Amino acid sequence: MNTRMTRLAALGMAAGLSLVTLAGCGGNQSTSGGGSSPGAGGGAKIALLLPETKTTRYETFDKPYFEEALKGECSGCTLIYNNANQDAAKQQQQAESAMTQGAKVLVLDAVDGKSAVTIVNEAKAKGVKVLAYDRFVAGADYYVSFDNQKVGQLQGTTLVDILKKSGKTSGDLVMVNGSPTDANAADFKKGAHSVLDSSGFTIKAEYDTPDWSPDKAQSFMESQLSSVKPNLVGVYAANDGTAGGVITALKSGGVNPMVPVTGQDAELTGIQRIVAGDQAMTVYKAIKPEASDAAKNAVLLANGKAPASATTKDSVPATLLTPVVVTKTNIKDTVVKDGFETIPQICTPQYADACKAAGLQ
Ligand code: BGC
Repeated sequence: MNTRMTRLAALGMAAGLSLVTLAGCGGNQSTSGGGSSPGAGGGAKIALLLPETKTTRYETFDKPYFEEALKGECSGCTLIYNNANQDAAKQQQQAESAMTQGAKVLVLDAVDGKSAVTIVNEAKAKGVKVLAYDRFVAGADYYVSFDNQKVGQLQGTTLVDILKKSGKTSGDLVMVNGSPTDANAADFKKGAHSVLDSSGFTIKAEYDTPDWSPDKAQSFMESQLSSVKPNLVGVYAANDGTAGGVITALKSGGVNPMVPVTGQDAELTGIQRIVAGDQAMTVYKAIKPEASDAAKNAVLLANGKAPASATTKDSVPATLLTPVVVTKTNIKDTVVKDGFETIPQICTPQYADACKAAGLQ
């Protein structure tokens, strides 16, 4: 944590903010105990190690949903929580520290899928189990995620469908992929390529966005704009964060009308851009069942039991959930229906007219 962050954290504590809020600064550790009665996990310590804070899902959904599900599964278990803020070396230290504190299971959402194999090996040597959460890590004891190639296919297919519906059969696309160190990003990219490569559209430029950084996605899009603008028909952006950067670049570069841009995560700002017509789609991955499945299986692992699985990924037993496409027409039936986001959250005064036009209000 840098000096500014340390000062902010100190201020936060002085102001009585909870450690949960401080964890949002991306480097603090919060340990929250469950109830006092020993539950199914027999009072085990379970560590949740999340990768970053720029994407809103981790602090807003993954952490609280996991915490809640863990309490339900094992009231006597203790949660050790860390966010690595996109720093793989920091994540390794956090994993080691959790093991030193006695964690029986690491629920690991790896910053870097390859270097995280070291964490898995260190855990194995200590008899600690690893549940790879959302992002795959080879050698883990269990894996809970979505069908990530399917996510990329859905993004690619929706983009092509929208273009074809508007009468286009050719033109240039730009692909703004996720982080080169994230195993999921490779799957999203593979899934998208499986559709876009044979779509009749031309992939004019492509970029793997370091750290999934929205700012870097924006700079890349800006750098490409003069050469791609004349024939640009759409942009594949791997998640809502990168889509936000891309859309800012397209708008300031005078792309009008906006071309369809994809996304993922059903982030509030992504849904608002969809309502406003700036973003074409997102992919909703229901985080509650993902976090619940991870908590349930982490408790089994803490008890020395092997979770039952319906499938495997690279011989690791796995739960793979189903991603869902969200466009302007099904916001109510997906994210709103699930309580992931509410109409008042989406339809702030700035989006009131667009919300009415989309039938949300
Ligand atoms: C997750 C996405 C997320 C991205 C950036 C991926 O591994 O599956 O939901 O947008 O990381 O954090």
